[in-house]
Amino acid sequence: MSSPKPEETIERKSDETGDKVTPWDVNAESDTGIDYDKLIRRFGSSKISPELITRIESIIRKPVHHFIRRGIFFSHRDLESILTVYEQQKPFFLYTGRGPSSEAMHLGHLIPFIMTKWLQDAFDVPLVIQMTDDEKFLWKDITIDDANKYAYENAKDIIACGFDPTKTFIFSDFDFMAQCPNFYRNICRIQKSVTFNQVKGIFGFTESDCIGKIAFPAIQAAPSVSSSFPFIFGEKLKQELPCLIPCAIDQDPYFRMTRDVAPRLNFPKPSLIHSTFFPALQGSKSKMSASDPNSSIFLTDSPKDIKTKINKHAFSGGKDSIEEHRAKGGDCDIDVSFQYLTFFMDDDQRLEEIRQDYSSGKLLTGELKKILIEVLQTLVAQHQERRKQVTSDVVRQFMTPRQLNFRY
Ligand code: TRP
Repeated sequence: MSSPKPEETIERKSDETGDKVTPWDVNAESDTGIDYDKLIRRFGSSKISPELITRIESIIRKPVHHFIRRGIFFSHRDLESILTVYEQQKPFFLYTGRGPSSEAMHLGHLIPFIMTKWLQDAFDVPLVIQMTDDEKFLWKDITIDDANKYAYENAKDIIACGFDPTKTFIFSDFDFMAQCPNFYRNICRIQKSVTFNQVKGIFGFTESDCIGKIAFPAIQAAPSVSSSFPFIFGEKLKQELPCLIPCAIDQDPYFRMTRDVAPRLNFPKPSLIHSTFFPALQGSKSKMSASDPNSSIFLTDSPKDIKTKINKHAFSGGKDSIEEHRAKGGDCDIDVSFQYLTFFMDDDQRLEEIRQDYSSGKLLTGELKKILIEVLQTLVAQHQERRKQVTSDVVRQFMTPRQLNFRY
């Protein structure tokens, strides 16, 4: 097979910064976190520019979500082409996913789903959500049964984000593989078109990685192809539909690979929008990790847990003494409590006041933390309330292959 030099999968390892960003590991050199502008250059994606935001708002005739406005979703690939498709009133679909590595989901895990829910409402399109229980089985020290169980448990938290059951299909890889021959066929098509050398370059696999890992990227790629879901998009679809994937930027390697093979298989290249990482309580050098309870606010945390964790562990950009803080002010760029507010405080004006007051020293760290604690206690309590409504019947409904409320 002749393989033209893939423009998008060239590994750019010799990077100017030592930031590490792979699907399995995120680590920043600087206290202010990952240098996202450099990451855009290294990955070869594009910045979501103010002009692009204006275009989105004029098309959907409402303001974009604050995640986009505040640069939390900051990068994209071919988002313009999706907007053009939408303007021409042609169909597209959304695809996102989650690797269910444990029962415990934290605040950071909600970010792509909150964004996706907003996009589903704004564009009124079908959505598929992949639970990669197979990925977690291959990478972590867990059994297949546990990984599969976590997929269903995590689906409850995802459903609690408010997705519409008539427009959303959620699937576990282990189960869907046996339910849908077209899915497996697309996986094999992709597997045949990517060499070991290519995935080595993109993901850093080595000779001693198990072959399951080496073949896995095709499984994450296949849901971006509409013919993987014949029950949603029809058996006789003449053309694959365009796909938009909201994800954290560490997932980009999977989709660089997908975009590389797509033309060879006559698949459209999926479009993407990328988010920054949700920082660990300890600071922006790393992202929240489900395996370190003190680095994360979990969706199961009580109001008291939240209060204690923020007060005890949230890295502060404030000064050592009150006098010094009043005189010099706090540093919002490294202050985790302030960072969290940019994710979860909707009100732009209030957020800006807090930024100014903290930077000037008028607002103390304890006061800033108190504001955050209240915001998060409310958010998590509301999530828990909605999750309680999600019975196993509801989960089964979302996870059954079926026609959605769209005809093609
Ligand atoms: N690999 C992702 C994870 O570990 C899960 C995933 C599968 C995903 N498909 C996706 C994430 C598409 C974003 C978009 O969490």
